Amino acid sequence: MDTQNKKVVFSGVQPTGKITLGNYLGAIKNWAPLQDEYNCLYCVVDLHSITVQQVPAELRKNTMDLVALYIACGVDPNKSILFIQSHVPEHAELAWTLDTISYIGELNRMTQFKEKSRKHADNLNMGLMNYPVLMASDILLYQTDLVPVGKDQVQHLELARDLAERFNNRYSPTFVVPEGLVYKSGSSIKSLQDPTAKMSKSDPNENAIITLFDTPDEIRRKFKRAVTDSETCVRFDADAKPAISNLLTIYSLTSGESIADAEKRFEGVGYGVFKEAVADAVIAVIEPIQQEQKRLVADKAYLESVLKQGAESAERIARKTLSKVYRKIGFIPKF
Ligand code: TYM
Repeated sequence: MDTQNKKVVFSGVQPTGKITLGNYLGAIKNWAPLQDEYNCLYCVVDLHSITVQQVPAELRKNTMDLVALYIACGVDPNKSILFIQSHVPEHAELAWTLDTISYIGELNRMTQFKEKSRKHADNLNMGLMNYPVLMASDILLYQTDLVPVGKDQVQHLELARDLAERFNNRYSPTFVVPEGLVYKSGSSIKSLQDPTAKMSKSDPNENAIITLFDTPDEIRRKFKRAVTDSETCVRFDADAKPAISNLLTIYSLTSGESIADAEKRFEGVGYGVFKEAVADAVIAVIEPIQQEQKRLVADKAYLESVLKQGAESAERIARKTLSKVYRKIGFIPKF
């Protein structure tokens, strides 16, 4: 990684369940193009995933699947640092430190915490509440300037900024205060069954989500069943026509055609034909990624070498920040 005066980008995805088209269009797709201009770190955030109970064998598989998926989506381990969060213990260490300057009130107010508490009432653990502090730790450890994420992470980013400023004010400038990089289009892909809700990995209704592991037939079938509206005009209007607008966004981001051109293309065309075109555009993007992901996941030795190098490079940076933090707090360095 070239470290010369380039700004730092950090992002991550949880290795839980099947990665969705929302995760791809809102986040992962945007990572590869940043690699030349920035020093990028892309992390598989396994520590985050255990805030919801996981089956160990599935977690192991999902983690390696996601590492391979990052590379298949264009993350180049020769340009970026690709690593697994639990391989760099500084994440948990800094999170503890940041916990001590986080207020229970501000964590209690987090929208995602409230949603998850409702969903996982039987497992309302402290990790679920601390989750945004660990995320702040991920970001601040690398003196991150930019965090490319979907809209649902904006509130967590705000907390990371607040904690950086709070620590800097209390001790002295230590952390870069990060900015979010949330793209106008694709930052909130909606469920195919309920366009008022986001497309979510944990949605129990399989027809609501497209995953990056779906077969072309499954993708066609899901788009065919996607809800629409009573009009028959393919027009972008997020308020009046949220379902069609969501499909248009997906079409535009996968085909590369602007929304305005797509509206012209589908003028006078029925929803059935439009949905087939959306499915075709999505399949054309997903199929080559799937093939590459499959090839990579079979090459265990390669993935392990990438992860070994990634963890070493990440830890070198993380250690530096953490040592600085510990010094400012008043901890005595190891003799
Ligand atoms: P996660 O794993 O839920 O989602 C990964 C990324 O996908 C985005 N995303 C979406 N974008 C558009 N439309 C959707 N329907 C959609 N659903 C999800 C998310 O915004 C995210 O960018 N807390 C994070 C992971 C994380 C992280 C970090 C991210 C941990 N530490 C540090 C950035 C920096 C999360 O749960 O993402």
